[in-house]
Parts: sequence; structure tokens; C-alpha cells
Amino acid sequence: MLRRHSAARLPGRLLSSTKETKIGVVGLGLMGHGVAQVSAMAGFNVVAVEAKDEFLATGKKRIEGSLGKVISKNVQKGVYDESGGKKSYDEIMGRLTFTTKLEDLKNCDLIIEAIVENLPLKLDFYKKLGPLIKKDAIFCSNTSSLQITEMAKVSGRPANFVGLHFFNPVQIMKLVEIIRNSETSDDTFNKVSAFGKTIGKVTVSCGDTPGFIVNRLLVPYLMQAMAMVDRKDASVADIDVSMQLGAGHPMGPLHLADYIGLDTCLAIVEGWKVNYPNEPSFFVPKCLKDKVSAGKFGRKSGSGFYSWEGEKVGKPL
Ligand code: CAA
Repeated sequence: MLRRHSAARLPGRLLSSTKETKIGVVGLGLMGHGVAQVSAMAGFNVVAVEAKDEFLATGKKRIEGSLGKVISKNVQKGVYDESGGKKSYDEIMGRLTFTTKLEDLKNCDLIIEAIVENLPLKLDFYKKLGPLIKKDAIFCSNTSSLQITEMAKVSGRPANFVGLHFFNPVQIMKLVEIIRNSETSDDTFNKVSAFGKTIGKVTVSCGDTPGFIVNRLLVPYLMQAMAMVDRKDASVADIDVSMQLGAGHPMGPLHLADYIGLDTCLAIVEGWKVNYPNEPSFFVPKCLKDKVSAGKFGRKSGSGFYSWEGEKVGKPL
């Protein structure tokens, strides 16, 4: 992941080299911090934006923690020695600029938005961003469930707009989905694909359909697991161990829902239920609603279907 890729592989003027190309990442939560980190690790200079100083500090801390983990693994593997590891860490952190000002994105060539999954907030963000940014900059939304077309319209540059959907943890998961709106240009699509490859991801493309490929399949599966909890068909632990040992999944569905964030899962299905009332696989399980109402968001809040201590999952609750 630390390998820097050949600039010659990137087409076009924009994104022609990691040195010349500036990436903006807005929102440094569970997804955004990872996107900023992998971009800096690939050699890009990154402007990392959060709305408030406290969120910025949390995002930076997340990057430092994850990067520290990656570097120390590389030291153990003999990729470099301790001092090489420190140098690499400092170089990567040095490519990141942390700010709370949207105007600091003005020289960015490609801006990836990873703010909260709420359409009115995203639309408001794109309305504000449009006039501040270079005319030929590309906008990417990391939305996991909202339609790209509406955001593209309000951004004032639909030809330069795509969905760019990463997976959690971004540092490890190899996939990124690219979603075109009806006006996305081939040039934009090709440049974003090249960016995805440069940061070490496999890219797939999908139409602007709810959940794209992965979440359209994954989220209904998570909801079915929660419906089993509601019906008391089986315990949380037994559902999860079944999917791990019976289907070979790295995490069971309830563990994974906690890992993604129960608030995020709820926002996704609630939105879909309203927009696609006739789709039976889009429903809100009671236990999900209850947990989110009680502030139990999973890993990020310390409890959900499990107790959590930081990154470590504990006992089923
Ligand atoms: N930063 C850096 N390294 C990390 C990391 C992070 N944030 N998280 C994990 N790692 C590393 C660990 O250090 C470890 O490295 P080594 O193999 O070198 O020791 C490696 O990843 C594996 O981690 P663990 O040993 O801690 O645990 P694991 O083997 O269970 O793997 C996991 C963890 C990769 C998260 C794995 O459980 C997994 O793949 N789970 C499923 C994740 C998944 O399905 N994600 C998609 C969610 S859906 C989504 O994101 C879309 C959406 O819009 C909702």
C-alpha cells in the first residue's frame, strides 16, 4: 500500500502525477480519514477538511493511529528499519494539510466528499463548494446510498461529478465503486478510475441505483439478520458465528453492522424505505431503530449489538 505508483500510468492533464495533483477530502469520519490516508500514502498531497476543530483533531488522530499500525507492520516485515519507518510516517503525514476552511480546497484537482449521509446537508455542501473551486476540478461523493444525480446537478458541474464509494476500513478494503450520473464525461470517469488504481484499489462501475452494487446486496442482508434478532430466532452471537463459520464471512452481520455504524445503517434504510416503498427488502428492523434512539451506534459509540473498547469488539449485549 505504501508503494508509489508510476505517474506515467495516469491519463490526461489532471491527475497526471501524484506530485502535481492535489486531493481534497471533506469529512474525516470512519470513511473520510481512511480516504485521506490512502491518498497521502499513494503520494498525493491532501487537504483534509472537517467542520469543527474537535472533529479535525479526531480525524487526524485516526489517521495517525492507522498509519502507525501500517508502518510498524512494515518495520516488522523488514520493508524498512525503524528510522526508515519514521521517515516514511513523517513524509506521509507531511502530505496532509488539516483545515476547517472549505476555501482551502480551492487549488484541489479532485475533491472527495465523505460527510454525513444526509441529502439536504450534501446538497447544501455542493451548492457552497461549487463557486469556491477550480472550474475543471472533479467532485466525488462517497455516499453509500444516496443518488448521485441530484448532487451533481446542484454542484453546477455534472460532467465533472461521480460517486466514488469506498469500503470500511478504507485502508484494507480493495474495492471502490464508481458511479456515473447521466452527464458524467468519459474524461472524468477515466481520471477517477486512474486515481482509484493509483491509490491501490480495484474499481468497478455501476449505474446510479440505490446502494450501487455492494450495499444493494449487503444492507438487506444486515437487515435480515436484525429481523432475526427482533423475532428472537437466534442470539446475536449465534447469528454472527453462523455466517463466519458457515458462509466464510470475515465478520458476522451484526458485528459488521456495529463496525459500519448503526446510525449509518439506519440512515441508509430509512432513506430507501421512503424513496422505494414497494421494495420489500428495504425495511427498518425494530432493534436497529431502538439502538440508534438510545445512542448505541456500534463501534463509534462504544456499544451496539456488542460492547466495544475502541477498535476491539467485546461481548454481545
Ligand atoms: N488501518 C490499518 N490497518 C488495519 C486497519 C486500519 N483501520 N484495520 C485493520 N487493519 C489491519 C490489521 O492491522 C491487520 O494487519 P496484519 O494482517 O498485517 O496483522 C489486518 O488489517 C487484519 O486486521 P485484524 O487482524 O485486526 O482483524 P481481521 O483479520 O478480522 O480483519 C477486517 C479486520 C479487515 C475489518 C475484516 O474483519 C473484514 O474484512 N471485515 C469485513 C469488513 C467489511 O465487510 N467491510 C465493508 C463494510 S460495508 C461498507 O463499508 C460500505 C458502506 O457504505 C456501509
